[in-house]
Amino acid sequence: MDLDLPHTDHGPRDGPAILLLHGFPLDHTMWAHQARALAAAGHRVLAPDLRGMGKAPLPRGTGTMGAYAGDVLRLADRAGIRRFALAGFSMGGYLAFEVARRAPERLTGLALVDTRGEPDSPEGRKGRAALIERVRAEGAQALVDAMLPKMVQSPGDHPEVREAMLRTSVEGAVHALEAMAAREGSLETLTKIAVPVLVVVGSEDPITPPEAARAMAQATRGARLVVVPGMHLTPVESADAVAAAMVEWAAGLR
Ligand code: MLT
Repeated sequence: MDLDLPHTDHGPRDGPAILLLHGFPLDHTMWAHQARALAAAGHRVLAPDLRGMGKAPLPRGTGTMGAYAGDVLRLADRAGIRRFALAGFSMGGYLAFEVARRAPERLTGLALVDTRGEPDSPEGRKGRAALIERVRAEGAQALVDAMLPKMVQSPGDHPEVREAMLRTSVEGAVHALEAMAAREGSLETLTKIAVPVLVVVGSEDPITPPEAARAMAQATRGARLVVVPGMHLTPVESADAVAAAMVEWAAGLR
C-alpha cells in the first residue's frame, strides 16, 4: 500500500527543505519548537507522523526500516522536493541512515539527535521482544510506563509527551520495534556522508548515550557534536539549545 504520511509543512515553499523524523513511540509534535525556529530562519520544514504513530495509518506487513524509508521518499516526491536535509531523533535517526543509503544523491545534510550508529545488541533485541509482548497485553500505556521515565527528567512537566505516546497504536508499536530490532549498523554509512552533519545528545541520555554520539561524530568527516543538558528527548527538554544548534547547522546547507 502506498502510504501518504500526514505531515506539517511550514516555512517558505522555495526555502531549502528539511524533513524532521520523530522517534518511537512519538509523533511529529516532538519537533514543534525546532520546526518553528527553522521555518523562521527561511527553511521549508516538513514533519511527518511515521506509519502507525500519531495520525499515520499502518499498512499490513512486517516492520522494516526500508518500508519507513519508502514512506519518507514518497512524501518528498509528493511535496515536489528533490533534495532535502534530514533531522532524525532516535528511531528517526535510524530511519535517516536508511534514507541516506537509498538516496544519497537527494541528501543535503544530516542532523542526528539522540540516536546511534550501532545496531541492536542481542540483549537489546530481547528487550524489544519483551516490550512487544507487554504492549500486546497492556496496550499503549505499557509504552508510557517503559519509555517515559527514560525520555525526560520531569515527565509531569511534559504531558504532551505522554499524550503522543498514547496516540501510538499497538500494531504501530510492534511494527516499529520489529524494524528497530532488525536494523543494520550505520557507522560505516556515516564514513561515506559528505554533507554537513550535526550530532546532538543529552548529557544524561540513557537510551542513546553520549558515547554513541561521539562514535557517530568520529565516524563522520567534519561533524559537529553538541552536548546539551537533559535525558533522551532533548528536542523537548532542551528545546532552545537544540533549535539553536539546528538553525546553525541548517545555515550551512547547500
Ligand atoms: C526512540 O526514542 O526512538 C527509541 O527509544 C529508540 C530505541 O529504542 O532504540
